[in-house]
Amino acid sequence: IFRATAMEASKLVLRRAFARSASSAKRRVVILGANGGIGQPLSLLMKLSPLVSDLGLYDIVGTPGVAADVSHVNSRAQVAGFAGEENLGKCLKDADLVIIPAGVPRKPGMDRDDLFNVNAGIVQTLCTAVAKNCPKALVNIISNPVNSTVPIAAEVFKKSGTYDPNRLFGVTTLDVVRARTFLASAKKLNPSEVDLPVIGGHAGATILPLFSQASPKVSLSTKELDALTKRTQDGGTEVVKAKAGKGSATLSMAYAGALFAEACLKGLNGVNNVIECTYVESSVVPGLSFFSSKVRLGKEGVDEILELGSLSDYEQKGLEAMKDELKKSIEKGRKFVQSGG
Ligand code: NAD
Ligand code: LMR
Repeated sequence: IFRATAMEASKLVLRRAFARSASSAKRRVVILGANGGIGQPLSLLMKLSPLVSDLGLYDIVGTPGVAADVSHVNSRAQVAGFAGEENLGKCLKDADLVIIPAGVPRKPGMDRDDLFNVNAGIVQTLCTAVAKNCPKALVNIISNPVNSTVPIAAEVFKKSGTYDPNRLFGVTTLDVVRARTFLASAKKLNPSEVDLPVIGGHAGATILPLFSQASPKVSLSTKELDALTKRTQDGGTEVVKAKAGKGSATLSMAYAGALFAEACLKGLNGVNNVIECTYVESSVVPGLSFFSSKVRLGKEGVDEILELGSLSDYEQKGLEAMKDELKKSIEKGRKFVQSGG
């Protein structure tokens, strides 16, 4: 008994020492679009993260103000603001993780693909600078339409000869956050104790919550399942309508972006079994070269893309229904860069 207790105690000491070293690792995080509706609260949340030692904030305008403001928070990260394209390279230098929420948001009546014309060029410019200044950084793309902007980033990195599919992520965490919240509310559960994967992409029917894999296990009538699935798919539109012309989700997105960024940093720091849904280059669904599903994050980014697991008939139909749209969005992003932007 004594030996077993001593072993447990030494394991605990080791675990604590590991947790301390993991959170004291030096990690530089850069946010591109830091003055925006997402950028500002995301900057604050990353400043509050004990995993961040340096925070670089970049935007075309306004970053000195955001940086000065956020830098007064008494947490570990050292903050510096950079404004204007001539300072982009300096901001990106030595980044471990680059988060990109730069770009225009939707207004009522638009879908995410309507943002393509403006945001494709922004993502292309920013990723060109990433390839030049911090080619080994993990990159989290938030800018919409994610289904196309992630393939755009991949093509830019390929052109620069720096592409590593394990380091490029589309942020779909907000879909998971929403599905957890909506399910918890429908079943009167504690939202922080509910979890489920959301697979596919990040637009309308390409967002597919897998309620059959929820934990805790839930039983849903067809009507409930349909309503929850549709609400998750239309979650972004619900916020766009409520904001009535003043943009799309910013606060919940900043929360989701910070959750995903912290997961990436934990992976880099060697924490075991960090699993998140994210939109990455993938072969889990034949014919769809980018797909969001559960991914284990590690010291080099993607460690393993997990199997989808078993899908209900309803979910299987949802998967079939999204294929054409997702494939077209991926191709559109690819062609944009291949044809010279
Ligand atoms: P916003 O207009 O409030 O902010 C965008 C910021 O990007 C602005 O500060 C702007 O100056 C900056 N910007 C524009 N061009 C830039 C460039 N070339 N370099 C650096 N910064 C640049 O918009 P927002 O509400 O923060 O949304 C940003 C993007 O995030 C939109 O495309 C939106 O659709 C998307 N979004 C994605 C998700 C998701 O789940 N992935 C969720 C919400 C919003
Ligand atoms: C969201 O899901 O809230 C974002 O993609 C923004 C949008 O346009 O809906």
